[in-house]
Amino acid sequence: MAEEKGSAVGEVVHEVRSHSSKGAHVASLEKYKKLHEDSVRDPSGYWGRLARRELKWMHDFDKVKIGSLKNGDLAWFVGGKLNVSENCLDRWVEEGRGDDVAIIWEKDEPGQAVKYTYLEVLHKVCQIANVMRKFGVKKGDPVTLYMPMIPEAAFVMLACARIGAPHSVVFAGFSAEALRARVDDVHSKWIFTADEGLRGGRTIPLKKTVDDAISSCDFVNKCFVFKRTGADVSMTEGRDLWMEPELEGQRPYCPPEVMDAEDPLFYLYTSGSTGKPKGLMHSTAGYILYAQTTCKIIFDLRPGDVYACVADVGWITGHSYIVYGPLANGTTTLMFESTPLYPDAGRYWDVVETHSVTQFYTAPTAIRALMRHGPEPTEKYDLSTLRILGTVGEPINPAAWTWYFKHVGKERCAIIDTYWQTETGGIIVTPLPGATPLKPGSATLPFFGIDLEVLDPQSGKVVPFVEGEESSGVLCVKSAWPSMTRTVFNNHERYMNTYLKPYPGYYFTGDGVTRDKDGFFFVTGRVDDVLNVSGHRIGSAEIESALVAHDAVAESACVGFPHEVKGEGIACYVILKLGNEETDDLIKDLRNQIRSVIGPFASPDYIVITPALPKTRSGKLMRRVLRKIIALEADQLGDTSTLADPSVVDSLIEKVATLR
Ligand code: PRX
Repeated sequence: MAEEKGSAVGEVVHEVRSHSSKGAHVASLEKYKKLHEDSVRDPSGYWGRLARRELKWMHDFDKVKIGSLKNGDLAWFVGGKLNVSENCLDRWVEEGRGDDVAIIWEKDEPGQAVKYTYLEVLHKVCQIANVMRKFGVKKGDPVTLYMPMIPEAAFVMLACARIGAPHSVVFAGFSAEALRARVDDVHSKWIFTADEGLRGGRTIPLKKTVDDAISSCDFVNKCFVFKRTGADVSMTEGRDLWMEPELEGQRPYCPPEVMDAEDPLFYLYTSGSTGKPKGLMHSTAGYILYAQTTCKIIFDLRPGDVYACVADVGWITGHSYIVYGPLANGTTTLMFESTPLYPDAGRYWDVVETHSVTQFYTAPTAIRALMRHGPEPTEKYDLSTLRILGTVGEPINPAAWTWYFKHVGKERCAIIDTYWQTETGGIIVTPLPGATPLKPGSATLPFFGIDLEVLDPQSGKVVPFVEGEESSGVLCVKSAWPSMTRTVFNNHERYMNTYLKPYPGYYFTGDGVTRDKDGFFFVTGRVDDVLNVSGHRIGSAEIESALVAHDAVAESACVGFPHEVKGEGIACYVILKLGNEETDDLIKDLRNQIRSVIGPFASPDYIVITPALPKTRSGKLMRRVLRKIIALEADQLGDTSTLADPSVVDSLIEKVATLR
């Protein structure tokens, strides 16, 4: 890795007073503090005013908010009617901005970008919506998307919103098995995909994966297929349909469905610490208002900006900050099909120069991967249009922060470390450019309307903030905000148990946090068994259940460990069934097992075959011990006096030493 000294966490405060801050939406820290105080004192007043100012309503709402975190019965903008696609498209066309660029599609190969104006997007969305209506998709019907990063992915999401069919986008890196589980859970009769995806010069067989996934789902009515590569793919008569010829016959207008503020806009599956992934539900008005407002203020959007978030639409970042947030502001948003390293480590900066990008939003794992190639690629391109550099997905280590700040932002752009989750719908902790002092490694302070509290994980008592003193605990939110997830699809009990019951009266994030002497938040990572690998969230339990489904596996335990590029790597400890032996082929097979049940991004770094796992006398697995061993910190195992068989630890330490 290029030698780059990071600042000590919390020590250096960068005051970025550059053109990025001049005239920013929030002018100073004092202004932020005052606005934040007002917003949390009267959230209904704050959000009610914004909702009327920033959104287009078909019918005004009667009440801003009802329900409570304690009861899990929250509803926002009650009685209000609106349509999200109308808010993202029609209103800009009606304002005479139909010729403004809505989406820049940066294809896998450089130099082939395609631009779509707001009017063109509106037409395409309407045509897709009309095809859906023609084949019987109705308001409330869940629609699954398994799409590459092509503009049609955004068009379909907006078409779903237009006719009131909640979408469930499944990241196209998930395996057939993982896709099947998600299609099955939400019971979606409609699927959108493409023949193939294209990424880093390699094709990804999307249609084939969909075929494998839905072969046992006989409730699927139609699979709508877009052409990306033109590959010859198999089409099942009566079920599969090419979209291009269908679209040709469709009228480019489709009246938007009148949606209730609380109707589901989408489901998005995410991993938890136990069991199968949860289909989190996001509602219509609260979600779009929060995505719009956070995007505008945090990224300091201004007319003429070209905003680029290089995430994938398969994750919440793509939903809120590629599609909905920017379009609900009438901004130009960029969709990036490729990878940071294709064709070389200058790709991102080539994109910035080519399109005069003003805001760039990526993940720490990508920055760390680029750091390995040194700063030269950042010097080859003109990055002077950049004002704001965002990061998301995992804690950003100060060395990566400093590299981003220095080499990409030329010490001129604000680094906006945004903390949030699939559940929160939008960014909840973040600096505001030009207003908040920046501390490497800190997402700094809560967004407006977000009332954070640090709780003691055991007692659940509030750890009060005392100026000048550092404190830590678990991160919770004290009052509801419009875009928080409302429920888990078909499992409200699980929603309550995961988020609202652990600390009654609070929303529990599942993350640990340190608050420094100035009250700045440093999110330290999950306190549950959820791993964060290259910003992808994976439950240990998911990997373990994939492994035990293999014939040779009796038991397994999977843990994360610090990884230089990925943030967190995956280590799987595996006990084989009698009669099986550790061989290179078997290890390969186990790795493939995880790839095929979850997806290649969950591929483990280490598989440690062991005759036993460290358990207490009462049979409880000591994951902490497994984490320390794989992190080569066996000298910090802590109290192991409750172990049933301490010799297990020694043999694991020996074994890991041979692997790492
Ligand atoms: O642990 C936190 C981490 O990512 C988790 C949420 O993952 P997901 O739902 O996939 O959403 C990712 C994109 C919003 C959180 O519980 N996380 C996300 N952003 C940060 C972070 N940890 C520290 N700092 C961040 N900026």
